[in-house]
Amino acid sequence: MTTIAVLGAGKIGEALLSGLLSGGRRPEELMFTERYQERAAELTKQYGIRAVDVPTAAAEAEVLVVAVKPQDIDPVLDDLAPVVSDRNLVVSLCAGLPTTLYERKLPDSVPVVRVMPNTPMVVGKAMSVISAGRHAQPRHLELVEELLSTVGEVVRVPEAQQDAVTALSGSGPAYFFYLVEAMIDAGILLGIPRNVAEKLIIQSAVGAAAMMAETGTHPVILREAVTSPAGTTIMAIRELERHGVRAALLAAIEAARDRSQELGKAHEV
Ligand SMILES: NC(=O)c1ccc[n+]([C@@H]2O[C@H](COP(=O)([O-])OP(=O)(O)OC[C@H]3O[C@@H](n4cnc5c(N)ncnc54)[C@H](OP(=O)(O)O)[C@@H]3O)[C@@H](O)[C@H]2O)c1
Repeated sequence: MTTIAVLGAGKIGEALLSGLLSGGRRPEELMFTERYQERAAELTKQYGIRAVDVPTAAAEAEVLVVAVKPQDIDPVLDDLAPVVSDRNLVVSLCAGLPTTLYERKLPDSVPVVRVMPNTPMVVGKAMSVISAGRHAQPRHLELVEELLSTVGEVVRVPEAQQDAVTALSGSGPAYFFYLVEAMIDAGILLGIPRNVAEKLIIQSAVGAAAMMAETGTHPVILREAVTSPAGTTIMAIRELERHGVRAALLAAIEAARDRSQELGKAHEV
């Protein structure tokens, strides 16, 4: 049995706790820290999980999952430094924070694994991308994979790729929301009522995602299969190409990667 404490049970922290419970963990194996009493009481009532302070979390939980906003990290590290040891594993879900930040602030040899999750974690469909810090062993990565696979898919990358990952899957859901929003507007333009347009586009997105994920067929093949000669789809594709949508996506994701690198610099030694 591995006891897990989530430090900062906001949107992502709560999604993880809820996923771990659905995945078969018992409430006694889980705990969390929260700043506000009211929020803590609400979570305990809903999930039957204990709210604790940081020293209790470090003493009783092997795995400490840090899920506060990156700008709130300093007080968490100050609280952790005197109580954490190499019998704990620190798992950071904080966008842009390098493992070296934890290694610098925490005692020697505390293992750290960095994770870039994304918001579909709230529906058990996260893409979590993990990287080992200097002291993390293969068994630590395996444990993190096991925990996060209860709330979606998990992939390992070297930490140097985490800025690119942030731009791809961390921000990725936002690009799809944006696309769906634009397609709903197109429905409005064509005179379809908003609620109907929303239903048509969201179900098309769900269906297309399921086809890619479940059939394993490459998106190019799937797209070609619905693009018939002189048909409607090719007319739309021509307009997408004319308006540079592919180039816009390449540039947008590159810009997100650059911003992630810039934010990370604030925490370099
Ligand atoms: N949401 C995303 O799209 C996403 C995607 C990838 C990665 N992440 C990462 O996930 C982390 C959490 O994001 P989120 O969206 O879940 O943020 P959030 O909803 O603001 O959750 C953070 C929680 O931590 C609490 N907190 C702050 N300082 C604390 C402290 N010292 N002790 C205990 N609790 C504390 C906050 O309380 P208050 O409400 O009182 O501030 C809040 O409940 C971030 O680092 C983010 O980079 C998020």
